[in-house]
Order: sequence, then C-alpha cells, then structure tokens
Amino acid sequence: MTAALFTPFTLKGVTLRNRIAVPPMCQYSAVDGFTNDWHQVHYAGMARGGPGLVTVEATAVSPEGRISPACLGLWDDAQSEGLARIAASIKAAGAVPGIQIGHAGRKANANRPWEGDDHIALDDPRAWETISPSAVAFGANLPRVPRAMSVGDIARVTADFAAAARRARDAGFEWLELHFAHGYLAQSFFSAYSNQRDDEYGGSAGKRGRFLLETLAAVRREWPENLPLTARFGVIEYDGRDEQTLAESIELVRGMRLGGLDLLNVSVNFVIPDAQVPWGTAAFLAPIAERVRREAGLPVASSWGIDDPQIANRVVADGQMDLVMIGRAFLDNPHYPYKMAQALGVERPAQVLPAPYAYWLERYRGPVKDSAQ
Ligand code: NDP
Ligand code: FNR
Repeated sequence: MTAALFTPFTLKGVTLRNRIAVPPMCQYSAVDGFTNDWHQVHYAGMARGGPGLVTVEATAVSPEGRISPACLGLWDDAQSEGLARIAASIKAAGAVPGIQIGHAGRKANANRPWEGDDHIALDDPRAWETISPSAVAFGANLPRVPRAMSVGDIARVTADFAAAARRARDAGFEWLELHFAHGYLAQSFFSAYSNQRDDEYGGSAGKRGRFLLETLAAVRREWPENLPLTARFGVIEYDGRDEQTLAESIELVRGMRLGGLDLLNVSVNFVIPDAQVPWGTAAFLAPIAERVRREAGLPVASSWGIDDPQIANRVVADGQMDLVMIGRAFLDNPHYPYKMAQALGVERPAQVLPAPYAYWLERYRGPVKDSAQ
C-alpha cells in the first residue's frame, strides 16, 4: 500500500507529487532584496530532493517590511527576474514553486540571527523606521517602539501585498503564501497584545482581523483563481489563554475561506517573547491543525517537529493535515524525501529523486566494492 505521505495532493489547478512541502525559510543572504546564486542553488537543490512543494522564504512587500537588510523583496519589478529563474528551476525539478510574501512590522530591521538577532541600532546607516498597528514594542531582543500606522499606511501596505502577489504571479510562482504569522505585521494586527487601536482596525476580534481580510481580498484580485492562495497564520500563543485565541482565530480563518483562501499553514503567534511553546512535544501543532481543518472547513498544512517519517505519514494518514511542512531536515539533507521513502518502505524509494541520481542509486546499492578483493 502506498504511504499516505507519498500520495499526490491537488489544490485548485495544481497537483503536488506528494504531501511533503518545504516551508519558507529565510536565508538572510540577499542584497537590496535581490536573489543571487545562493538562493538559486538552495531552492533548486531542495526541489531535486523530491518534495511536492518548495516555498521561497519570507519575501518583503516593501523595503521597510524586511526582517533584516539581507531579506528578499518583491517591491520592485526588477526583483522578479531572479525569482522567476528560481521558480523555473523548482518546477523543472518536478516540485511546485511557491513563495511567501510578508511584512515584518515591529520585528523588522533586525540583524541576521547569527549576528545578534536584535534590532539594528538607530544610528546605524542600515536602520529604518518600523511600523505596527500600535506603538508597542515586542520586547526581549527587539525592544524598538514602532510607529503606529495611520489608515493611509494600512492602505499602502495592503496595496504593496497586492503588487507583490502580481509580481509573484508574473514570475511563474504557482502557490502563494501570505505571511500572517510569527508576530510580524499581520499577526500583530490580530493580537490584542500588539494591537491597541481604537479605530476600525482594532478592538474586537472582528476589527483586529480587518487588515488580514482586506489584504487577502486585495491579493485575491491579483492572484489567478486557478492557483492556490494560502496563508500562514498563528492560531495559538501558548500564553494560558489558548481556548479564546483559538476560537477567535478559527472564526477569522472561516472569514478567510469565504474571502478566497484555499489552504491554511497553521502556526504559532510568536507575538510575545515569553510564550510557553511545547517545543519538546513532537508534532505539537497536529491536533491544533486538525481542529482548524475541521472547524474552519479548509485544507491545512503545519510544521514543527514533524520530520520523523512515521509521524509525518501518520498525521497525513489520520487526516490531521493535508501537507507536512518539513524545514530544518531539508537543511540537514536536501534529499530528505528519499530518506523518508526508504523509512516508510516505499517501493523503489530512489524514484523520488531525478533520474540522474535515481538510476545510480538503484543500480549500485551499498558500499563501493574494493576491486582488489
Ligand atoms: P526565536 O527564534 O527568538 O525563539 C523564541 C523562543 O522560542 C526562544 O526561547 C527559543 O529558544 C525558542 N525556540 C524557537 N524555535 C525553537 C525550536 N525549534 N526548538 C526549541 N526552541 C525554540 O523567535 P522568533 O519569533 O524569531 O521565531 C519563532 C520561530 O519561527 C522560530 O522557531 C524560528 O526558527 C522561526 N523563524 C521564523 C521566521 C519567519 O517567519 N520569517 C524567520 C526565522 C525563523 P532559544 O532561546 O533557546 O533559542
Ligand atoms: C524558518 N521559519 C520561517 N517561517 C516562515 O513562515 N517564514 C520564513 O521565512 C521562515 N524562515 C525560517 C528560517 C529558518 C532558517 C528556519 C529554521 C525556520 C520557520 C519554518 O518555516 C518552520 O516552520 C520551522 O523551521 C519548523 O519546522 P521544522 O524545522 O521543525 O521542520
């Protein structure tokens, strides 16, 4: 019997060859938002490893929306060219090319993780003003107080998302993920910790969700109907008020579904620095993802600690999620699906790899023989 993980998945007009997806993973290796050889090799390499979907990292819709000065951008038509080459090479390797577009809000303008992961000093020439729904800092390593956005700022960022979606479409991406998670701009609109507005974008859960729904609607107008429009959204903060957050979040996801969302990548809020995330529990988001899938009525993907092949296969077989997002295991081994296929007893596991690799792996197995013996 075929392992559930290796069955195809069709969403709108796109079919993934299996349920393994590479989630967006920032490379912090761009200059002025442009791709370079690092990105080209990185994404093509993972696509050759056999996943159904490869999602290009968080790509900023405006310069101020970058997490770090080394993040990718899609605010300028010229940035499409390198991304188009990446999309084409992902597709040539048999995976569906996806991209995540986002705005980092008050978590923007940080140093790279391995260079401090903290806000860049304001007197540094690489500093820029950060914006957020309210003038409330994240804290911890990101203490800078952002400027509270005007209604005009909100309209501009919404238009920036739509323009980036149009560029992603023109660059040949076939799967779009809106970054509505991880304490960045959209997630901080929905969270009462970071959104203390008293206008039509703050207050009740309905008003806090307005920016997300308006952005989705603006993108929907640009993104083709036959291609999947997805979002990554944190539905739980792990702050002791999880039932209320989940209920409000699922209500918003229902609104997103009605607004044209095709799949939700279920994640964590990361709006506060001291949340009690159960990192030690394998696939800790699987029951949450299953609940969103059932109560909001749309396909879901999720992440974190799902890279064990048996666990990944089980969460798909049990209907907890439609796709598994496998991140760091791909950094460890870009051919990770081959390892998963071997572990799950898939017939001819090397066939998940392209023929120039699969042929040799099937022909000569085991250690190279010593011709002297
Ligand atoms: P941090 O990376 O600063 O992590 C916040 C807290 O969670 C820290 O206590 C950290 O532990 C802990 N933590 C984070 N990831 C793990 C893990 N995989 N296993 C165990 N503990 C973990 O928070 P961020 O808000 O920057 O990022 C949140 C998550 O999103 C992280 O898992 C990160 O890898 C990921 N991420 C998302 C990006 C995006 O959405 N664009 C960009 C880059 C990363 P400790 O203090 O021990 O490190
Ligand atoms: C990430 N993650 C992440 N998430 C996201 O939504 N957009 C992003 O650009 C990034 N960037 C990023 C960079 C790096 C280096 C890592 C390790 C992680 C989170 C990522 O998509 C994934 O959810 C986590 O890595 C958890 O999955 P694994 O690694 O446990 O399979």
